[in-house]
Amino acid sequence: MFLFKKKKEVIGIDIGSSSVKLIQLKDTKGSLELLNVGIAPLPPEAIVDNTLMDSAAIAEVIKKLIASFGIKIKDVACSISGNSVIIRKIVLPAMPQEELEDQISWEAEQYIPFDINDVNMDFQILSPDGNDPSKMNVLLVASKKDIINDYVAVFSEAGMHLSVVDVDSFAVQNAFEINHDYSTEDIIALVNIGASVMNINVIKDGVTLFTRDVQMGGNLYTEEIQKQLGLSGADAETRKLLAHELNDTALQNVILKVNETITNEIRRSLDFYNSTANEDRISAIFVSGGCSKVFKLVEKIVEKNDLPVNTINPFAKLKYSEKDFDPEYLEEIAPFMAVPVGLAIRRVGDK
Ligand SMILES: Nc1ncnc2c1ncn2[C@@H]1O[C@H](COP(=O)(O)OP(=O)(O)OP(=O)(O)O)[C@@H](O)[C@H]1O
Ligand SMILES: [Mg+2]
Repeated sequence: MFLFKKKKEVIGIDIGSSSVKLIQLKDTKGSLELLNVGIAPLPPEAIVDNTLMDSAAIAEVIKKLIASFGIKIKDVACSISGNSVIIRKIVLPAMPQEELEDQISWEAEQYIPFDINDVNMDFQILSPDGNDPSKMNVLLVASKKDIINDYVAVFSEAGMHLSVVDVDSFAVQNAFEINHDYSTEDIIALVNIGASVMNINVIKDGVTLFTRDVQMGGNLYTEEIQKQLGLSGADAETRKLLAHELNDTALQNVILKVNETITNEIRRSLDFYNSTANEDRISAIFVSGGCSKVFKLVEKIVEKNDLPVNTINPFAKLKYSEKDFDPEYLEEIAPFMAVPVGLAIRRVGDK
């Protein structure tokens, strides 16, 4: 799924609100080889509410990452999420792909709360309607042009060219699908929890059944720790990361409370899916995102949903030499890398 596209090799660059992640893959004889992996922090106010506030700082971070690997390719795939994108599952009269391409703006108008001329739009025909063969389910993806233009400008400032714009939850889905074995009958909830946004995507056999972004993530812990324990933002962030090791009950209690909030939100979304779907119930949850490392969060997700919960390993089936990449390091950063791995695949084959 992309908002616009071009068939060429790309570098996957995920501009998250806490850091920029970079992945370069190479397609060698049908398998994917890991060429470069990078992660670099962003200043705290560089991205606020999904808006690129400090594009100069973001461009600088991207430029340095690219230079540090000596990457020559200029084309980039990035993704957007949260308030920047509207994703709707809609029901339309059954029609061929080409016909829908001509009609999508007109059909989509009623679902988009902006002037249709101000948005980039893409769609994916999901399936015929189970109850009425004259209808089909379509996934509609739209984003405001000025938001996309901000990304185009930031990459251009970094000396790169934005060629593919994807959506975080679909990038996670791609990373999951190439790395994990699953049955076509399985219904899997992918939950990517970053610093400011949580992307939830329920899939079956490569198709999205339900997707939702919640403006909530790791920052919520940091803010609560800061407030409750009277610490600076930086100290609160550090203590959050160390909560496993520190024997600090006050700190752990604040975290456990936020775990409750986050897992309630996940449970609410999954309940909503389960109550509206014609399909079977969710059989497993796969988490990703830096926030999935939070003290006892995964345990809480298991407890709340009574489902198996695994962490996505976006490197599981990639080829790499242990001389070039320390497996322990890859394991450590794996949760952060689901989105950029999903983006880096983009050059292999367009949908
Ligand atoms: N070991 C850890 N324990 C707890 N939290 C962690 C750990 N490592 C990272 N985090 C948190 O994970 C978050 C960053 O995750 P990630 O890189 O997936 O987010 P992002 O992509 O930058 O943000 P977003 O997609 O929400 O804009 C931060 O809130 C960070 O504090
Ligand atoms: Mg992210």
